[in-house]
Amino acid sequence: MPEADDKQAKSFHTDRPQETPGFFLKGCGALDWGMQNRLSRIFDPDSGRTVMLAVDHGYFQGPTTGLERIDLDIVPLLGWADTLMCTRGILRSVIPPTFAKGVVLRASGGPSILKELSDEHLAMSIEEAVRLDAAALAVQVFIGGEHESRSIRNMTRLVDAGNRHGIPTLAVTAVGRELTRDAKYMRLAVRICAELGATYVKTYFVPEDFETVTASCPVPIVIAGGKKQPELDALRMASLAIRQGASGVDMGRNIFQSEHPAAMIRAVRAVVHENASPEEAYDLYRDLREES
Ligand code: 5RP
Repeated sequence: MPEADDKQAKSFHTDRPQETPGFFLKGCGALDWGMQNRLSRIFDPDSGRTVMLAVDHGYFQGPTTGLERIDLDIVPLLGWADTLMCTRGILRSVIPPTFAKGVVLRASGGPSILKELSDEHLAMSIEEAVRLDAAALAVQVFIGGEHESRSIRNMTRLVDAGNRHGIPTLAVTAVGRELTRDAKYMRLAVRICAELGATYVKTYFVPEDFETVTASCPVPIVIAGGKKQPELDALRMASLAIRQGASGVDMGRNIFQSEHPAAMIRAVRAVVHENASPEEAYDLYRDLREES
């Protein structure tokens, strides 16, 4: 059994970004054409980044605040999202088939918010993903959770199926309430996902040493938005994450629970795609809020 690696002085070379030969996304140069084409429907090839609009929360918590009526409150935002992350149920029932950007489909599930959340299984076949033309499939990975091994197995099964059909896998690192959200944990979680085949990884932003999380992950990282914060704080978080090597955001509540979701998603875009400062983006939010 190898010993736990508890060495303190690690060399992340955060000043030397990983080279990306052959394709604009980190670690994706050796992927097949179909996989790269799907990734180009998620990440904007010009900026190399993405604003994913995450509205899949209902798969374990039902009609989440802000998502009670996706037809009325989310569909009008689609023009500003690079990609939509949702369940197949919402896709078929509510999202117009004329939506031509990438769709990242939630492919794991099982327990509701009333139960142990790490008890997930795969919840969609690869044929269904092909039929729905998914740009990627998202699976929850619970490193340190009660059902850690099963969630990893869910991910590796999805990676194998996705690789057969040219569909990328997004590993979503899920942090249990009992686990410390720090850079050391995030490095462990995202690196395990990347080593075991995830095409890209979603994780939470941590204020300290986040650049070591992105530097030690060989594939792109997007950050989850997390709980609703004041708009300027959410823009600061997105900006810090981008500046420390994140390739975008997969943001839900900080957009759809904002009093002005359309203004907020456009402000987030300014941070992600135009390197706007949080203050500049917040000014934009305020201007657009006045207009709406
Ligand atoms: C649920 C998810 C959500 O898509 C994710 O948490 C993003 O939403 P938010 O910005 O509201 O955190 O993966 O498990």
